[in-house]
Amino acid sequence: MPGLPVIRCAVIGVGRRTLDDYVPALAGLSSRIELVAACDVDPAAEARLIQALARNGHVPRPRFFPDHASLLDAVDPGLVIVATPHHTHHDITLELCRRGIPVLKEKPFALSPAEARDLAAAVREHDGHLRLCVQRRHHPLYLRAKDALGRIGAIRHFDATYQLSTDAYQAGWRAETRTSGGGAIIDMGYHIIDLLHWFFGMPSLVYASAAPKLNPDAAYDVEETTLSTLTYPNGVTGVLRLSLCESEKSELIRVYGSGGHIELTRDRLTRFDRSNRPVERVAGERSWDSASGVLVNTLDHLSDPDVTEREVQDGVRVTATIESLYRSISQQTSVRPLHEETQDARFGSGHRRGTAGTEPADGVSMAEAAIGVV
Ligand SMILES: NC(=O)c1ccc[n+]([C@@H]2O[C@H](COP(=O)([O-])OP(=O)(O)OC[C@H]3O[C@@H](n4cnc5c(N)ncnc54)[C@H](O)[C@@H]3O)[C@@H](O)[C@H]2O)c1
Repeated sequence: MPGLPVIRCAVIGVGRRTLDDYVPALAGLSSRIELVAACDVDPAAEARLIQALARNGHVPRPRFFPDHASLLDAVDPGLVIVATPHHTHHDITLELCRRGIPVLKEKPFALSPAEARDLAAAVREHDGHLRLCVQRRHHPLYLRAKDALGRIGAIRHFDATYQLSTDAYQAGWRAETRTSGGGAIIDMGYHIIDLLHWFFGMPSLVYASAAPKLNPDAAYDVEETTLSTLTYPNGVTGVLRLSLCESEKSELIRVYGSGGHIELTRDRLTRFDRSNRPVERVAGERSWDSASGVLVNTLDHLSDPDVTEREVQDGVRVTATIESLYRSISQQTSVRPLHEETQDARFGSGHRRGTAGTEPADGVSMAEAAIGVV
């Protein structure tokens, strides 16, 4: 945009997400943002970055550093993108907040409710600017779908399926809960769980179970297929099926209201009336750019504290729901996310097994205080 300063940007983590998605997006937005620095603990990443920049016609070569501390000591970026393995996000993002540098971080917001609360506190303490890359919230088709929810009467129930056909979770940092936080739910499923929050708010009760492993002898310990039911304070209920390992990639969300229903896929939105007649059709593209929309929105709201506050609140809530799904799987019981405890189910210490889901409902305000939503 003419007249606006070009934001000097740095990327922490030069893996697939950066090379495949951020590099083309940054190249396409060169009038607004310039990649001036990057870092990766793998020295070979520099050559991969240079090749990807060349492929995308990005001329200036960014400075490359072996870690984020040396990058931040040498460069003063106006925005930093964090695209590293999940277990490294927290320390890096806290450091960026302390230094007052705006952050666009990859999902997940946090690996546990405790981390989410810490991050929320750090952002607020340092007047930080934090955005999360949940691209569906910025995609025109999904924005139309959210709008169409207002034209199907009172929402009653939904079913959502999101599946990939990948083996990326079977090796490397994605294969271990310690480093990824989990598989189908927190890694792949984060996008859909966030979307469900955006559409319906926070569930008041969840029940989740995990299917047997595709390959029982394989070493990975993350869940690859899960089925969940989610119930909301207003009685809306829904089913969520997530899977990393099916024979084809697909995404389908159906939402049923008293006056019709919508069907949403990655490339199509259809609204039906109660007689099952299609009354609204919106076509999109099957394969779409998942980074530019978020980057543009981040740049448009770079100094807007309200946008950060909303992002932080959403992140804390989605983290609590995700924690409840994991807790439900491990305890084989229904769990109330609004009553989610501050300890976490997957990383051990202090987790009070057997109590969640059996406590009496105390009301939303107390529960929101418990997960740090204020
Ligand atoms: N929004 C989306 O659609 C989407 C898609 C894919 C990945 N992601 C997210 O992007 C992030 C990265 O995923 P990926 O697929 O690119 O993983 P990846 O393994 O391909 O890349 C991660 C890179 O980070 C580097 N790294 C590890 N620790 C580091 C550290 N401490 N400092 C700097 N670099 C470090 C690794 O060497 C590697 O090059 C994850 O948070 C993932 O969930 C989001």
